[in-house]
Amino acid sequence: MEQKISEVAGSFKAELNNVKDETGLEAIRIKYFSRNGLFSKLFEDFKNLPKDQKPKYGKLLNKTKAEAQKEFDLLKNKINSRKKQSQKFVDLSLPGRKKTVGSQHLISQTIKKISSVFKGLGFSVYTGPEIESDENNFEALNFPPDHPARDMQDTFFINDNFLLRTHTSPVQIRLMRETNPPIRAIIPGKVYRNEAISAKSYCLFHQIEGLYVDTNVTFAELKSTLVYFAKNIYGNDVKYRFRSSFFPFTEPSAEVDVWWQPPGKEGKWLEILGCGMVDPNVLQNVGIDPEKYTGYAFGMGVERIAMLKYGLSDIRILFDNDKRFLTQF
Ligand code: DAH
Repeated sequence: MEQKISEVAGSFKAELNNVKDETGLEAIRIKYFSRNGLFSKLFEDFKNLPKDQKPKYGKLLNKTKAEAQKEFDLLKNKINSRKKQSQKFVDLSLPGRKKTVGSQHLISQTIKKISSVFKGLGFSVYTGPEIESDENNFEALNFPPDHPARDMQDTFFINDNFLLRTHTSPVQIRLMRETNPPIRAIIPGKVYRNEAISAKSYCLFHQIEGLYVDTNVTFAELKSTLVYFAKNIYGNDVKYRFRSSFFPFTEPSAEVDVWWQPPGKEGKWLEILGCGMVDPNVLQNVGIDPEKYTGYAFGMGVERIAMLKYGLSDIRILFDNDKRFLTQF
């Protein structure tokens, strides 16, 4: 019996030494540890031993099988962890995965571009809050209470005294109250109008306000500044016109139109901004002496300028966050 046990143990060891993978391991398991395996056979032989020999060989057989099982499990663990490692292997021949890089929204790009034109002319950039007082948004800008000019801008009121600003012009008031002339600034920002949403208008859009207050500021300077701006954005051969207009906070006032010529279609004039000389009433409202100082102001719609530049026909596309559109710019 002893010999049989040591033969099985010996061949088990020898065969286990040659096992390299899961298949080899499985063959060994079947040959030695299955119900009809060699260890089971030894236990059957053991049953037929005379009673007095059983304790001795029982012990030996149990010990030998337990050791074999231990070695088998050890190798099984080794092979399994090797397999896991190889699954972690990086295949250097695979093509790389491209990282997608974000880009600035067309509106941000347009604001940046417009700002850089005016910065080059010595304007600084200033901002103000989107929730404004009625006083700054209308009153100080020479919109008297109940004046029909207020209806030019449909307003989201928060309460009797506060509202979502309908234009960036109230920041002119803040700026003139905070600093003494000379003042030369542009003011980009969001504005809100309670209007029906359509291809042409949205409840939210962006404006850039401009303000220059100093001694001897003239309309001629305003005009040359805005022509310089239009040429920078639309090219030197841009066709433009100044058309006289009305705003409560400027006198005289004008609007600037740019000729829009879509390919194959009829061209037309499109308004891109309002402007004028700061009304003396406004200067007085903020404590600047209108006898000593004059100023000009302008305000433009960023969406309008971008739509014209890139040939967009629906303003809503700028607020949809559709990547197919946004990644084109
Ligand atoms: N705030 C005006 C608007 O939203 C635009 C505007 C016109 C601004 C003339 C100005 C200006 O500063 O001088 O319709």
